[in-house]
Amino acid sequence: MHKDFEEDPADAAARVLEANWTGRHTVPATGLYPHQWSWDSAFVAIGARHRAPARARAELVALLEAQWPDGRVPQIVYDIGRDDDYAPGAGFWGAATSGLVQPPVHAWAAWLVHCADPAGSAREGFLARVYPRLARWHEYLHGRRAGGVGLPVTKHPWETGTDNSPLWDAALERVPPRARTPVRRPDLQHAGTGERPGSRDYRRYYRLAETYRDAGCADDVAIGFALVCPLFSTVLAVSEVALARMAESLPDGGCGLPLPDDGGDGRAGAHEASAARLIAALDEHLWDEELGLYVALDDTTGEQVRRATVNGLVPLLLAGLPGAGNHPPGGRTERLLATLAGPGFLGGGPYLPSTSRDDPAFDPALYWRGPAWFNMSWLLLRAVRALGRDDLAARLRAHFDVAAPQGFPEYTDPDTGAGRGTRQFSWTAALTLDVLLTNEQAVVPAP
Ligand code: SER
Repeated sequence: MHKDFEEDPADAAARVLEANWTGRHTVPATGLYPHQWSWDSAFVAIGARHRAPARARAELVALLEAQWPDGRVPQIVYDIGRDDDYAPGAGFWGAATSGLVQPPVHAWAAWLVHCADPAGSAREGFLARVYPRLARWHEYLHGRRAGGVGLPVTKHPWETGTDNSPLWDAALERVPPRARTPVRRPDLQHAGTGERPGSRDYRRYYRLAETYRDAGCADDVAIGFALVCPLFSTVLAVSEVALARMAESLPDGGCGLPLPDDGGDGRAGAHEASAARLIAALDEHLWDEELGLYVALDDTTGEQVRRATVNGLVPLLLAGLPGAGNHPPGGRTERLLATLAGPGFLGGGPYLPSTSRDDPAFDPALYWRGPAWFNMSWLLLRAVRALGRDDLAARLRAHFDVAAPQGFPEYTDPDTGAGRGTRQFSWTAALTLDVLLTNEQAVVPAP
């Protein structure tokens, strides 16, 4: 007798990743995002490692092959055959990649990918291939991108990965909403207007990107936007710890790369020290006692941007890092957990919003101004698991239950869970797969 059956969610998620694989990399979504995106690929690899570890490694290797000579890993690697399908494209940059970057989740992803299949990784010499490139990527961020307080600056909202978070509003206001390049919006064919940034935002995004491009993507030229983000800084610290684990695992302790000046503890020690420096700077400069979370810092004015967003909760990951010291200090872990469980976030509805429900800009449908994003649920899930908070872990995990039945939406309404943005979205599928297939307790696992 024929029986209707629902596909197993893990099989459905794996199928999305296979469908979005081009043979070289995975597109975030075939219509809306037809090229390779930097932090998307990292999340994709984290999910793909369970059932297709070789593909997960290939994903990261392909991205790192597009690294610039100065060490930056580009935000987008263009598929030239599809240059009309997304804007701004390769023609805008006059290059095969965007000149911008995205949050440095890559070393963390590479380490998780390695740990899922150490034998396959060893056979391919995966760590030896990616470690030097990842180390140079971090050097770029610590060097050319170092802001006044020693944390990396982002030069464009697209670099933050959380494009139209209210954290960037005040700085973006200073950018004239006029670009020389005509603004094309192919994205609006794939997601509702009320779910994507507005045309005024886009004119400013273009203007800023033009200014950066015309300065040769040089980082010593002030272009009017230089923001320090708690999410970007946190994932860099986590990735530094991942690089330390990699350096320890490599037979020569780091592929023969030169030791840093204070190289007493070798390359692994240098990565640990770098993580500790980032964490100390974050604690000193980005904490907001009143909001009970971390905020952004405008490197141009030296002032904090006091808006409550999910970006400011992501430093909870640091509390679960081994060897990173007592972080956050002064009871801040408890404070952050209380903010996460409080009315602005999980206390105000079932799913974790990208912008606090208490922020005046909160909008449950609009891109990064309220919807629940699966990568944020995943980051916080990882953080609370490491802290043994099973109650909060169960709340965050529930977000992944609504992914498969709706065709893996890009983001969802934080109250109803209704899908928003595009569908068959790769990182939603990848992170659903990860949540279904692993219960890792450590933020950065031991080898
Ligand atoms: N998220 C950006 C967009 O929406 C690109 O990184 O196009």
